[in-house]
Amino acid sequence: MYASRIDLPDKLRSKLEKLLNSRLADALDLESASKQAHWNVKGPNFIALHELFDQLHGNIEQHVDTIAERITALGGRAHGTVHAAAGASSLAPYPLNISDGVAHLEALSERLADFGKKVRAAIDASAHLGDADTADLFTGVSRDADKYLWLLEAHLQGGR
Ligand SMILES: [Fe+2]
Repeated sequence: MYASRIDLPDKLRSKLEKLLNSRLADALDLESASKQAHWNVKGPNFIALHELFDQLHGNIEQHVDTIAERITALGGRAHGTVHAAAGASSLAPYPLNISDGVAHLEALSERLADFGKKVRAAIDASAHLGDADTADLFTGVSRDADKYLWLLEAHLQGGR
């Protein structure tokens, strides 16, 4: 933790650094999972899903940058390598042997829902620590997680 003139105590900044790095690892994991789906999906809805999964990747990529730069703005160190994220992610490993569109929709939905749940908890945790800015950051991530979960699940809900 670097010294800073920011008006948040070191102890608090350190807790926020840990919380933000946990969700950064999950976001990086989810970001690569969405590319994995983008590259490998097959089937009759190929082009729609190929493009949707890339949009999801782009959205998460933006949040990855915002989360990482909040860590450094607080005087912390962002753990942003693939290697670090692989070791720290709390998400279930993405399957490498699936190709069907529905299988990718289900695998991504499960992981995005898990991520969304943890981000929602992070809103409350950072608000509880007195950092409205980090709570606001996580609120934006949470809103997009819910939106993209809808976009994924809408493909699985038709006719039910
Ligand atoms: Fe591509």
